[in-house]
Amino acid sequence: MAARMWRYAVRINVEVPSIRRLAGKRYFSQEPTTVTLIPGDGIGPEISASVQQIFAAAQVPIVWEAVDVTPVRGPDGKTKIPPEAIESMARSKLGLKGPLATPVGKGHMSLNLALRKEFNLYANVRPCKSIEGYKTPYDNVDLVTIRENTEGEYSGIEHMIVDGVVQSIKLITEPASRRVAEFAFEFAKANNRGTVTAVHKANIMRMSDGLFLQCCREVAEKHKEVQFREMYLDTVCLNMVQDPTKFDVLVMPNLYGDILSDLCAGLVGGLGVTPSGNIGADNVAIFESVHGTAPDIAGLDKANPTALLLSAVMMLRHMGLNAQGDMIENAALTVIREGKVLTGDLGGKASCSEFTEAICDRLA
Ligand code: NAI
Repeated sequence: MAARMWRYAVRINVEVPSIRRLAGKRYFSQEPTTVTLIPGDGIGPEISASVQQIFAAAQVPIVWEAVDVTPVRGPDGKTKIPPEAIESMARSKLGLKGPLATPVGKGHMSLNLALRKEFNLYANVRPCKSIEGYKTPYDNVDLVTIRENTEGEYSGIEHMIVDGVVQSIKLITEPASRRVAEFAFEFAKANNRGTVTAVHKANIMRMSDGLFLQCCREVAEKHKEVQFREMYLDTVCLNMVQDPTKFDVLVMPNLYGDILSDLCAGLVGGLGVTPSGNIGADNVAIFESVHGTAPDIAGLDKANPTALLLSAVMMLRHMGLNAQGDMIENAALTVIREGKVLTGDLGGKASCSEFTEAICDRLA
């Protein structure tokens, strides 16, 4: 069964290595699987409804368990994700998440960060592949960024030394670096990809990035069938905008991944069409659109649901539901390629509902 699964080559989305561990388990039955749905804020509910409508049209055997992650105040006065949402994710181990609003510089911590921490979602996977018929300055882009998701500058270790001087600590550990490097190589092998590039600044951050790079080198030694390259972040940025087709799988620490993955999304048409998956220990995974809540168009039926839909397709492949994933992806990409029913961000005039209907019609 596992061997057969690997033959389903990746187009825009990808299989993640954890699928091996799932082989033979409940995901391969056609019994409905419960998936936690976090519709999110702003356009989140609209694009979530679109995905649910398309999944229903494709008769995907999924039961959605919608949860609200609006923070609640605990007995200690601190805000946290509601326990019901955590319990749902802990039960289902699979989540689909719309965008969440994060207040800048005040209030609760980023809920995205809180979810990553809660479920130890250590690898963020973002495939960036050119969409046929949707013209961007670059053709034939087909790369995947893998971002360490749990530490680096995102560790939340900040303090004031004296008034007017703050310090933020970049935490890099050997286990986390090794774990994401292992993931990147396993991922490359599972998806027939030839090269993993470690992105770093070990020339400046000799100890922290040096440790990350060392772990990548050691892991590369165990996966000789995959070519290993190491490149400075600034060189990657330069080369990426000159010729992104030179890149395959890239693995990097947290902050570099945050920035570079958005840059890569821009190469293939922007955040409205870019899916992502956050893969954690114990087979927990949350798939999410990478754009924000788009407050300027929220509630106006103008949002493009493609990023969340392709994230959901990525989730289907993670579950081993490749046929359904392929079918839905084909339908969405066909509608985009035909160019008749497109949302505003893709240069069209269609509403989110009309775009959704067009995809459902393709499934019929
Ligand atoms: P944004 O991604 O929400 O919006 C940037 C621009 O892209 C806007 O013009 C918006 O209309 C457009 N856009 C985004 N997604 C679209 C879609 N699916 N269809 C059509 N147009 C789309 O970024 P912004 O304005 O910086 O952030 C707004 C809020 O979202 C903030 O509270 C931020 O913290 C949050 N955010 C949440 C993320 C997440 O939950 N993963 C990621 C990024 C931002």
